Amino acid sequence: MTAHLIDGNALSKQLRASVAERAAALRARGITPGLAVVLVGENPASQVYVRNKVKACEDNGLYSVLDKHPANLSEADLLARVEALNNDPAIHGILVQLPLPAHIDSHKVIEAIAPAKDVDGFHVASAGALMVGQPGFWPCTPYGCMMMLESIHYDLRGKHAVVIGRSNIVGKPMALMLLQKNATVTICHSATPDLKAMTLQADVIVAAVGKRNVLTADMVKPGAVVIDVGMNRNDDGKLCGDVDFAGVSQVAGYITPVPGGVGPMTITMLLVNTLEAAERL
Ligand code: GUN
Repeated sequence: MTAHLIDGNALSKQLRASVAERAAALRARGITPGLAVVLVGENPASQVYVRNKVKACEDNGLYSVLDKHPANLSEADLLARVEALNNDPAIHGILVQLPLPAHIDSHKVIEAIAPAKDVDGFHVASAGALMVGQPGFWPCTPYGCMMMLESIHYDLRGKHAVVIGRSNIVGKPMALMLLQKNATVTICHSATPDLKAMTLQADVIVAAVGKRNVLTADMVKPGAVVIDVGMNRNDDGKLCGDVDFAGVSQVAGYITPVPGGVGPMTITMLLVNTLEAAERL
């Protein structure tokens, strides 16, 4: 392997230590930063994610509530619950775990969250703020990717960044964040005719598709920085990303592993956003 590893666990540890310090300072002023994690139904992956989020809060001096509801909760009742959390002074951040059951309109629920408490950064007001470069909460996964680039002191000005994937949660906000740092940004997706022609031009590649081996060694310019947002299982059931790590790490200059890369950073940035929501009061 020739690429340097960007270690998401190590960076998370540093950032969480700083969160814990800032949380202690707030507590000394009588404010305990609080996160409400709302879970509807029994989706096994969601249950693991929310447990990890709540535990990360506890470990770093933030208050958290896991607001759990049965899968048949009505949309009206969920909206009422969000409204109650909007008005709860102990809660500074609200996160509604997705996906929601099919009978609930996720967009409507996310829009019901007060933008000042939208620590997931999914509200249209947060997306708009990012779009126009105004202060607001950034979605945690792309925000974590930006912190990983910052951790290697990577100057994006004038660099070509290629984002593979155009989701509202990762691809689109990622592109805007890279643009804000003066990169030239290309967004590729399922209808891009020649992905390899694009990625071969890239100084930075962010793979956020949710499919194994979307990026292989022959698609990467020597020395490029490769950020892998994917969370997939290989044939042996082992966690893997979107990037062929074994091959690409022979060509790239920097690479993030899966596991231990972007994953821990997502929860870390959730803590950072929750802390900032409390600090802004
Ligand atoms: N489901 C998968 N990832 C996420 C996330 O980051 N936030 C929320 N709310 N739901 C998710």
